[in-house]
Amino acid sequence: MANDIRGAEAQSDRTEISAGFAPADLPAGTSRTIQLSAGREIALYNVNGEFYASENLCPHQGAPLAEGTLCEYVVECGLHGWQFDVRTGDCLTVPEKIQTFEVLLEEGLIKIVL
Ligand code: FES
Repeated sequence: MANDIRGAEAQSDRTEISAGFAPADLPAGTSRTIQLSAGREIALYNVNGEFYASENLCPHQGAPLAEGTLCEYVVECGLHGWQFDVRTGDCLTVPEKIQTFEVLLEEGLIKIVL
């Protein structure tokens, strides 16, 4: 499921975006695609109540990681099975890495720091 961003605010050298929904709307063990402008996508994960975010496109052949399988801190790409640690972005399958982003819970909403 994809969500559109509902607001953006710039703070000095970083930008916080709202995921547009409350933490309770992303149950533990699930993930969701967040659509940014210009076609950019973020994958947002709930690991036992802790939220993590990464770029969404798998560096192998571009499958959306938010549609992969999330098991604890590891997301497995649904296309060929590459695995990534959502905390660090480290690939556990090959020497690769995906970008990760800080996630904040503020005023009852999820915010991602770009
Ligand atoms: S596209 Fe993700 S492992 Fe191939």
